[in-house]
Amino acid sequence: MPYGKFITFEGPEGSGKSTHISLLAAYLRAQGIGVTLTREPGGTPLGEVIRTLLQHNGSGEAPVGRAEVLLFLASRAQHVERLIRPALAAGEWVLCDRFEDSTLAYQGYGRGFDLSELQAVNHFATHGLKPDLTVLLDVTPETSRARLLARQSATATLPDRIEGEADEFHIRLRDGFLNLARREPARFVVLATEREQDAVAADVRAAVSERLMGCGHAD
Ligand code: TMP
Repeated sequence: MPYGKFITFEGPEGSGKSTHISLLAAYLRAQGIGVTLTREPGGTPLGEVIRTLLQHNGSGEAPVGRAEVLLFLASRAQHVERLIRPALAAGEWVLCDRFEDSTLAYQGYGRGFDLSELQAVNHFATHGLKPDLTVLLDVTPETSRARLLARQSATATLPDRIEGEADEFHIRLRDGFLNLARREPARFVVLATEREQDAVAADVRAAVSERLMGCGHAD
């Protein structure tokens, strides 16, 4: 059984990751490919508990910055060993909503932790597993904020701990993601999302077809 492919989706809030992951999963399944959809933090029972702790101060106390990093990484270590590697070994393609680039963007560029230290702990958590392809869905901080507010008013929810960070944090974060993509062009594809959803979805399929399926076009 050949190994499956590991595709991660990254980007600021409101970039459309969950929509485009679902659309790509439907496309791959129609090609007869087995797909596992997952997310970080989360993806395992332990990871989902960590997600609640992180997003809404589930312990009653906000984690300090270094504890926040380690909670994301604890979720990742569990996820890689319990879900991602077994699925890839079974030949499934794994589509993951956020992975190690989110730690570099949010905790590195956003919160100011040293990137090489974060890379080292990321490597410890993943045991060296790297995505075959990372789709960076880019969105300006203004559109990201507007989409977030629209979603919160539609679902009557409040911003979580990270969504509620100041505008400068979200600007650094977006620039950080773009920097990461520039450093590894062979792994990343960067897609602008302030356009028709169908056009973005077609570009996602084209990137996957060209880079992972050895085809020149998706349809
Ligand atoms: P989301 O996936 O629903 O957008 O929520 C995850 C939140 O956690 C989001 O605000 C990004 C943040 N995050 C980090 O700060 N670092 C990480 O390593 C990961 C995976 C997520």
